[in-house]
Amino acid sequence: NKGHYEHYMQKEIHEQPESLTTTMRGRLIRGDSCKAKSVLLGGLKDHLKTIRRSRRLVFIGCGTSYNAALAARPILEELSGVPVTMEIASDLLDRQGPIYREDTAFFVSQSGETADTLNALEYALENGALCVGITNTVGSAISRNTHCGVHINAGCEIGVASTKAYTSQIVVMAMIALVIGDDTISSQGRREAIIDGLFDLPNKVREVLKLDQEMKDLAKLLVSEQSLLVFGRGYNYATALEGALKVKEVSLMHSEGILAGEMKHGPLALVDENLPIVVIATRDACFTKQQSVIQQLHARKGRLIVMCSKGDGSLVCPGDSCRVIEVPQVEDCLQPVINVVPLQLLAYHLTVLRGYNVDQPRNLAKSVTTQ
Ligand code: UD1
Ligand code: M6R
Repeated sequence: NKGHYEHYMQKEIHEQPESLTTTMRGRLIRGDSCKAKSVLLGGLKDHLKTIRRSRRLVFIGCGTSYNAALAARPILEELSGVPVTMEIASDLLDRQGPIYREDTAFFVSQSGETADTLNALEYALENGALCVGITNTVGSAISRNTHCGVHINAGCEIGVASTKAYTSQIVVMAMIALVIGDDTISSQGRREAIIDGLFDLPNKVREVLKLDQEMKDLAKLLVSEQSLLVFGRGYNYATALEGALKVKEVSLMHSEGILAGEMKHGPLALVDENLPIVVIATRDACFTKQQSVIQQLHARKGRLIVMCSKGDGSLVCPGDSCRVIEVPQVEDCLQPVINVVPLQLLAYHLTVLRGYNVDQPRNLAKSVTTQ
């Protein structure tokens, strides 16, 4: 049921304040004078000791689910104190990459039925790792075959392009980072700030959704372009990859997410006055570096669309040469949840304007059950 929306993708983008609320329901403890703020994940509580003691945390997924893990990686590294690595499921299998008994392997999948991810799960089980599922589908193969896990509870996702599952996956992985780090006193202040940020996140998503019309106007401007680049780094490298994946998957426009730190190692050659480039430059530890990236792109006459924190528009844009998307600022590790929303909206409007099928892009299936 699409309600008053024209497409499932549109509905699922707009229901993110509610889906995120359901994802967090019953899992955030407000705390009081005698009890600290904390996170409770029923599915993990009996396995936390093993997870904390593991030699490595490996996150495995495909497409958007992989990008969600990448978005959560910095906070997982920071709070867990255990090395965190990422694997695209097919690539892990192609390489028969190392998975050890001392590893904890997390399988991220909206559907819980993706063939590559399931094969990687079988492989990790054979190698003796503790296997944890992060899935949206209760009773799915991943949910059943993992040792334990967390359901993201985002509600049924119908559009082939994953939107609300992505933001709920990031929130669940941030919560996993919080519970793993729960026994570390030195990071308590940081953890409490993130928990406060989680409580307020649905409101902030509601706020960023107000950019809908602005993104539609931007889509009108970009509708006939051949290509769109998205530059990000740090917490928002994943946002660049995910924004570009959305654009190419539904609007059928070539789009590439680029790690800004790699700009001078090749991508800079593409920059001219015609190619549109989105640069993500919201406030975090990488902000100054992104400001310098913007300056260098501007010096090559790049056609820039800069995503920045509210109020930073004139600071990040050299002269009035670029277009600005101002988004609400949240705790740095949660910023990817906010920043992906305008890009989801852009992909959606581009698709409608270009006349393509929004909910069922050509050649794609919601659940990829074959290799
Ligand atoms: C569970 C209930 C929820 C109830 C809550 C009350 C289910 C599905 N969930 O939620 O309805 O409101 O208790 O305390 O009945 N699991 C895996 N692999 C996965 C995902 C989950 O093995 O990929 C396992 C978990 O380890 C857990 C169970 O499935 O044993 C349920 O997981 P989850 O729904 O995340 O647990 P709760 O949030 O505690
Ligand atoms: O169901 P899963 O999360 O395992 O699916 C993984 C990918 O197939 C999926 O995210 C795909 O990339 C989406 N269509 C992206 O929007």
